Amino acid sequence: MKSKALIALLSDGLVHSGEYLAGQLGVSRTAVWKQIRRAMEEGFVIETIRGRGYQLVSNVDLLDAGEIIDGIAEDYRPRIDLRVLDQVDSTNAELAREFQAGSDSIPVVIADCQTEGRGRRGRTWQSPRGENLYLSMGLTFHGGFSVLDGLSLVLGVAVANALESLGADDIGLKWPNDIFLPSGKLGGILVELQGELQEGVVQVICGIGINVHMSAAGNVDQAWDSLSRAFPRHEWSRNLIAGAIISAVLDAAHEFSERGFVDFREPWQRRDIFMGKKISARGGEAAGTGAGIDQGGNYLLDTGDGIVPVRAGEISLREVK
Ligand code: BTN
Repeated sequence: MKSKALIALLSDGLVHSGEYLAGQLGVSRTAVWKQIRRAMEEGFVIETIRGRGYQLVSNVDLLDAGEIIDGIAEDYRPRIDLRVLDQVDSTNAELAREFQAGSDSIPVVIADCQTEGRGRRGRTWQSPRGENLYLSMGLTFHGGFSVLDGLSLVLGVAVANALESLGADDIGLKWPNDIFLPSGKLGGILVELQGELQEGVVQVICGIGINVHMSAAGNVDQAWDSLSRAFPRHEWSRNLIAGAIISAVLDAAHEFSERGFVDFREPWQRRDIFMGKKISARGGEAAGTGAGIDQGGNYLLDTGDGIVPVRAGEISLREVK
């Protein structure tokens, strides 16, 4: 974002004169006006108050590496290798480019917008500037590729814990790892395998997208919501949300590495949005009533003739209305 310094000055919502802004930024008043126009092109709503100056009317929630780090549990901070980017194709792709084999630090990439945000099953993830959280973390696990199935669900529980700790109620999970509110999808998780270092040691990229301030989205083919729309009285900060999610993911990854999936079954199932609902696996290959998950994180369908597990992976479930 080219106008970051200007927006930071206007972010108090007060009226500031062109002269004041020019002095603070060390540029001419004409240059200030050009920056104001550029910021408006980037989506900020700035009013010109005649004879007085400029006022930022839209909400700003700038990403700040220091604030993100402050929000992470103290024990984890020294190991976090955080990069906050203005724009990137995809935070998952960026993390894949830099993920060092065998490093002790935990790489985290967060961006203000993504030009090629990736969703599950080859979909595009809408990633408008300044509105949402786009975060990727690199984690290393022992246990071979099979850790991936359970990990997807574990990450869903971690994100739900983080959002609830910040005041979001009613967070639901849609198998395997979509984050839901009763009003629609709030976020998604894309787990991508980076590679196997040595036998059984796998590097995984965990990409997390949360709708924070988004109020409109084109080309989204399902009900969705954002934290600001669903909880308008709460002032949502992307920095705080990022810090809470990073901590919660590291807590969960530690527990998952030590004890496996066993402790995640109940917290996942408690938030299952399909429990007791009529559902089918996409493609129609299985249908029944949602009955939670088994010990390994497979989804259970009660078909009437018995309980049938649906394996984690690329199958997706939907409600039959
Ligand atoms: C889904 O389809 O529900 C998963 C969406 C995952 C989106 C996040 S945003 C941060 C990270 N970078 C990406 O390109 N995708 C993930």
